[in-house]
Amino acid sequence: MSNQVALITGASRGLGRALAAGLAREGYALIIDARNAAALEATAAEISDAGRTVTAVPGDVTDPAHRVALRRAAEQAGRLDLLVNNAGTLGASPLPALADYPVDELRAAFEVNVIAPIALTQLLLPMLRSRGGAVLNITSDAADQAYAGWGGYGAAKAALEQASNVLAAEEVAIRVWWADPGDLRTDMHQQAFPGQDISDRPEPDTVVPAFTRLIGERLPSGRYRAAHLMPATR
Ligand SMILES: NC(=O)c1ccc[n+]([C@@H]2O[C@H](COP(=O)([O-])OP(=O)(O)OC[C@H]3O[C@@H](n4cnc5c(N)ncnc54)[C@H](OP(=O)(O)O)[C@@H]3O)[C@@H](O)[C@H]2O)c1
Repeated sequence: MSNQVALITGASRGLGRALAAGLAREGYALIIDARNAAALEATAAEISDAGRTVTAVPGDVTDPAHRVALRRAAEQAGRLDLLVNNAGTLGASPLPALADYPVDELRAAFEVNVIAPIALTQLLLPMLRSRGGAVLNITSDAADQAYAGWGGYGAAKAALEQASNVLAAEEVAIRVWWADPGDLRTDMHQQAFPGQDISDRPEPDTVVPAFTRLIGERLPSGRYRAAHLMPATR
């Protein structure tokens, strides 16, 4: 896999950071983003200490100028093999019922979870097509399960899933995967369960082998669950 380049959004912490470290171990050079520049730089420094090239591009995925900066970083890297649209938001917290969901917050959640990944993919598709690359969109079981309170987040993830599904039909020269990582012990998960002990949820590192298998084996385009991809359950 050496010389391959992956762009991962939302990689300063949580699942994105674990995926960045995992792909670096597989030999990928990385381009990563997040809004908090200091946290992003700390992650980039930690991963590059292990010997990989990591380009940190701080910014908000909903900002068109930031997305162009990400494309510029990929152009400077000379190639792009994988785009991981991982950055996401829970939306309003504590999770409100749809009856009470503030519409501005709903719109903001769709901007981060749906519009930004589609727009970033649009910008990067020419580079990905030229390499026969891949897009991995991180979704959730909330996309197809009706959990009370999860209507805003779940509707946005469902929209991302169907956009991925159509993209897979349209872009036959690349792989398009959309995958549910399962419950993970992260800031977002804690935000969903404020004040609750989430220490029984697995750490994000635990699902990295599922994703490195998906990517490394270049499985067919489609919807996946990390739990079903774990090498031990093959
Ligand atoms: N944790 C779970 O149980 C779980 C379950 C199913 C699916 N997921 C999905 O997994 C993905 C990662 O979630 P996580 O739990 O790892 O969340 P997290 O710990 O909150 O990390 C989110 C990452 O995304 C970045 N980010 C958030 N908004 C951004 C924006 N507008 N622009 C750029 N970067 C942004 C954050 O950094 P900044 O705040 O500095 O921007 C951070 O690096 C999400 O798509 C989530 O929906 C998580």
